[in-house]
Amino acid sequence: MADAAEAAPAPGDGSGRSARVVLLGPPGSGKGTQAEVLSRALGVAAISTGDMLREAVAAGTDLGRLVEGIMKSGALVDDETMARVVRERLGRTGPGAGFLLDGYPRTLPQAETLQEILGAAGSRLDAVLSVEVPEDELVRRAVARHRADDREEVVRERLRVYREKTAPLIGYYERLGLLRPIDGYRPVGEVTAQMMAALAGLASLAPLDRAAGVTA
Ligand code: AP5
Repeated sequence: MADAAEAAPAPGDGSGRSARVVLLGPPGSGKGTQAEVLSRALGVAAISTGDMLREAVAAGTDLGRLVEGIMKSGALVDDETMARVVRERLGRTGPGAGFLLDGYPRTLPQAETLQEILGAAGSRLDAVLSVEVPEDELVRRAVARHRADDREEVVRERLRVYREKTAPLIGYYERLGLLRPIDGYRPVGEVTAQMMAALAGLASLAPLDRAAGVTA
């Protein structure tokens, strides 16, 4: 899922390819699910830091060895390591290119790092889609999935970390005028439609007419 825009439309064709969007939300809220659909609709790369770290663990790289235990515990990888990972990944995407960031930023320092990376490239975020889902549903979804960090006690720890470290980003992005709240407690296609409507309303991303027909 990390690069679902291989067959992306050409820049400037009205596809929304330069859309720079963050997907913010608790574990199990559907960020990865929506990133995959939206990346195809908008023709931009879906970049999931969780997927990148899991790939590093599977490949046994230095990064993978560093983060494996942290991920299993439900804690966050440190901000400096994540800054290196994201800086390198966005550097490959190229200045001005669009992206859907799934799982980054997760702390205020990470949000500031992202602003700095984009600012240095003469770029900026267009929108932050903030997905809201009741906590019992988040636990139900995650435990049903059976990923290595989806045991109920680890999911509850990830939710605690989310409330403490990541939820403050909602106010941060609201103050920047970027926040678009999304009701994630709906069927997948309805959530996608809400997101497309939230993005289509942004003058900087118009026109999204072709993509707006997507209902997953
Ligand atoms: P990460 O992989 O980012 O996990 P997460 O944020 O906990 O998110 P999930 O993948 O659990 O959920 P999701 O919101 O993507 O939902 P999904 O679409 O999968 O991070 C894992 C770990 O990596 C972190 O704990 C941390 O250790 C580390 N890490 C990553 N980024 C980091 C960073 N920036 N800083 C520090 N550490 C970092 O859906 C979940 C389930 O629900 C699926 O089964 C899906 O089919 C289902 N579903 C989706 N939508 C719906 C719907 N509308 N209705 C019903 N079911 C649905």
